[in-house]
Amino acid sequence: MKRSLLAALGLATGLAVPAAAEDLTVGLLLPFSGVYASLGNEIETGFNLGLAAFGGETETTFEIVREDTEVKPPVALGKAKKLILQEKVDVMVGVVSSGVLGAVRDMVHGAGVPLIVANAGNDEATGAACSPYITRMSFSNGQINRPMGTWMAEQGIEKVFTLAPDYAAGRQMIDRFSQSFTAAGGEIVGQEFTPFQKTQDFGPYLAQAKASGADAVYVFYAGGEAISFVKQYDSFGLKADLPLYGSGFLTSPLYVNAQGEAAEGVITALHYAPTIDNPANAAFVAAFTAETGRAPSEFAVQGYDAARVLVEAAKAGATDRASLAHALRQVSFEGPRGKLAIDPATNNIIQPVYVYETVAGEGALTQKVLAQLPAEADPANGCEMVPLSN
Ligand code: BEZ
Repeated sequence: MKRSLLAALGLATGLAVPAAAEDLTVGLLLPFSGVYASLGNEIETGFNLGLAAFGGETETTFEIVREDTEVKPPVALGKAKKLILQEKVDVMVGVVSSGVLGAVRDMVHGAGVPLIVANAGNDEATGAACSPYITRMSFSNGQINRPMGTWMAEQGIEKVFTLAPDYAAGRQMIDRFSQSFTAAGGEIVGQEFTPFQKTQDFGPYLAQAKASGADAVYVFYAGGEAISFVKQYDSFGLKADLPLYGSGFLTSPLYVNAQGEAAEGVITALHYAPTIDNPANAAFVAAFTAETGRAPSEFAVQGYDAARVLVEAAKAGATDRASLAHALRQVSFEGPRGKLAIDPATNNIIQPVYVYETVAGEGALTQKVLAQLPAEADPANGCEMVPLSN
C-alpha cells in the first residue's frame, strides 16, 4: 500500500525521481473498512489536499504508506508495528477510534515515533497517558462535549437523557457532557450505552428516552451508527417533543445528506462546520468542493490540518522522528477552523467550538452556526509531559 507524494498529487511525470536526503515517510493509519471507513477516507482526502496546498512550501517530499485499522484495536496495533518496524516510517498520521488510540499509545511512545492524531478524541492520550510523541490536531472528547453541557443548561434545558456507543469515546463524551451539564444545574434523568458496531435497532433505547421525563436527548454517534440513529429517532416520532442534541459527529456534513430531513433541527457542537466564515475556510471549502463535489466535514479538515502541521514541521527543519516530535508541538496557525495552537502541557489542540443547527439549504442540508464558544485548553487530566531531549 505504498505510493509517492508526486503520484498522490497527480504530478507523476514518468521520470525517475531520486530519493532526496530530506524525504519523510508518513504512515497513514486509518480505517478503510468497518463502521468508520468513510471517516478514514475523508481524512485521507483532506490530508492529500493539505499536502497539495502547502507541500510546495518545503523542499521535503513525503512518501505515504497506508494501513487499514479496520476499527479493531488489535488489528490496528499490528498495523502500527508494521509501519514502525518494517516500513520505518518517520511519522504516523491518523487513528479514528478512541479505542484504537488507546491500543497503539504504548507502541508509539516506546518507539519514539511521532503520531499526529487526525481524529480519535480519547482524553487519556492527552491526559494521564500523554506522550511527547502524540500531538493531537483533531479534538479531545472533553473539549467538544464539556462546553455543550454548559450551553444547553444556559438555554433553559433542565433534564436530559443520554445515549452513546459503549466504548471509550462514547463513555468519555457522555461523562464530560454530564459533568458540565449537572455543574450548571441540569439533571441527567437516564443514560444508556449501546453495543458498539452491533446495534441496528435503537427502538428499545428510544422508548426508554421517551419515558424518562427528559426535556431533550444528548448523544454521541458517528459514521454508519449516526445515520441509522438520526433516521430512527425521526421515524420514532420523537423529534418534535424531545429535541435531539449531540456532538456534531452526529450530523457530520460527510453523511448528513444520507440522513435527509431526519437531521433537520438537530443541534450539535463541534470544532468545525463548513459554513464558518473566514478566508482560510473559504479557500479550503473551494478546494475540497472542486475535488469531491460536496462540502468538507470535520474529518476532512482534520486531515488537511494534519498535512499542514507536518509541512510546517518540515519547514522548521525537522528531518527525523525526534526532530519531528519536537517541531510538531510548536506549530500554530490560522486555518479553516480559526486560530489553532498545541497546548505544551498536554499536546492537545486548542481551538474554538461551534454550536450549529442542521437546516435545509439550497438543494442540500447545511449548518447554521448558533454560537462560537471560546477556545479552551483541556485541563492536564494527569498529564506529566516528558521533556524531549532536543
Ligand atoms: C473516537 O472514537 O474518538 C471518535 C470516533 C468517531 C468520531 C469522533 C470520535
